[in-house]
Amino acid sequence: MGLQHGDEGKGRFIDELAATYNIVVRYNGGANAGHTIKHNGVTLALHQLPSGVNHPHVQLYIASHCVVNPAKLMQEIREVESHGLSVRNRLRISPFASVVQPSHIVVDSATMGGIGTTKNGIGVAYAAAKMRLEGDRRLDIRTADIRDDVHGAMAIARRNLEIELERYNAGGEFDVEQMMGDFERGSTEMQRFIDTDPLALTRAWRRGNRLLLEGAQAFGLDNTYGATPDITGSNVGVQAALLSTALPPESVGRRIGVVKAIPTRVGYGAFPSEFGGARAEEYAMENGGTLHTADWELERYGQQVEELLASDDEFELGIAIRMRGNEYGATTKRPRRPGALDLRHINYAVEANGINELFVTKVDCLRDFSRSKFEGIPVVNEYRRNGHHVDHMPTTKAGLLAVEPQVHVCDGFTEDLSGMLDQSELPPTALRFIHDVQRRTGARISKIGVGPGREQMINLSV
Ligand code: IMP
Repeated sequence: MGLQHGDEGKGRFIDELAATYNIVVRYNGGANAGHTIKHNGVTLALHQLPSGVNHPHVQLYIASHCVVNPAKLMQEIREVESHGLSVRNRLRISPFASVVQPSHIVVDSATMGGIGTTKNGIGVAYAAAKMRLEGDRRLDIRTADIRDDVHGAMAIARRNLEIELERYNAGGEFDVEQMMGDFERGSTEMQRFIDTDPLALTRAWRRGNRLLLEGAQAFGLDNTYGATPDITGSNVGVQAALLSTALPPESVGRRIGVVKAIPTRVGYGAFPSEFGGARAEEYAMENGGTLHTADWELERYGQQVEELLASDDEFELGIAIRMRGNEYGATTKRPRRPGALDLRHINYAVEANGINELFVTKVDCLRDFSRSKFEGIPVVNEYRRNGHHVDHMPTTKAGLLAVEPQVHVCDGFTEDLSGMLDQSELPPTALRFIHDVQRRTGARISKIGVGPGREQMINLSV
């Protein structure tokens, strides 16, 4: 699972680990996720499929705490299969997962701009399931309903769509027939993947299969343990992994947290260690996040990246870090908001999930900080408020906005790590930094990423 605010780079690790597992399970979220993996030099952006697609012997499972968009899932399967990977014969979907209906996307688009959702109807689909209304008021459809009576499910979806389009006066923006047509075709095609066994994973585990449970989004966006309203609709942590799979607690051995050395956040939301603070958030989210895209920033700032990197103004540093790290959304293309590695926040996630292993991505990117005003690696290790140490992680948005993150600068490095294959090649300051993070989080760092390539990972035994 990701421990920050998403986009930590989980997909690649899951792709690598998957080779030694029998089943890779996506346990939360839906098409809001974007997990990129490489296959024969082609980059595949997976949204709903588990990141085990590269390994033909690995079964794929979409578990009960996910929300499924049928048309998008079928499109994704076609896309992946067009690259020579077969998915159809090894994918199963839990009968308990909720289905994202066209009406959920209408409501998300009309109401959730204040958070900056991915407009995939995620939160609305989860909310509809929680409502448990029946008869004429029914809001939710589960995958089992699609499996058993696709026509009945379509009637519910069509009525809901008409109601919401009228409520939000959004008829002009959406094409009902096209939405319903896509939904029906996708749902019909999806029927055959929906399991009949409610405990398929539990039993697979008891039979001795090895399961890799893949989280989407990240613990900082957890629907319960994140600060409302800037969170996602699902639960993300180890608790959600158990809920979603009906696996017993003792089944979970390795609890791996993925952390990005320079964290980012997309959408709105408190982010104490953000470079440039509220100004950077507003800039990134201008026009709903559609304005300052990769192309726009390249055109505007392409010649000045080094200057911005060295700037005293952290807003400018943030732009340079985003451009250097190519931090733009895989699903929405929105600019991601970078900040300093926040160990206070990571420790919260480690503690809440019993994380016993960390993978740290983009360690090579830390090199850029040597040319910044910090002249080393900025790390937040404490929050204060009005000058006083804050003991507990703030639980509200207002609480998070009020903290003063204390930045500590670790020794940096200037070497290019991207070609390094072994721990012995790492500069001593990079190793010291890794030790420092291990010590402060209490979790062993067993892998680091030093570049985007599949092979640009170093296994650590420190
Ligand atoms: P939703 O999940 O589409 O409802 O969006 C809620 C919040 O979670 C927004 O701030 C999104 O930007 C963020 N979010 C959702 N999925 C991801 C993800 O996969 N990576 C990063 N942020 C995400």
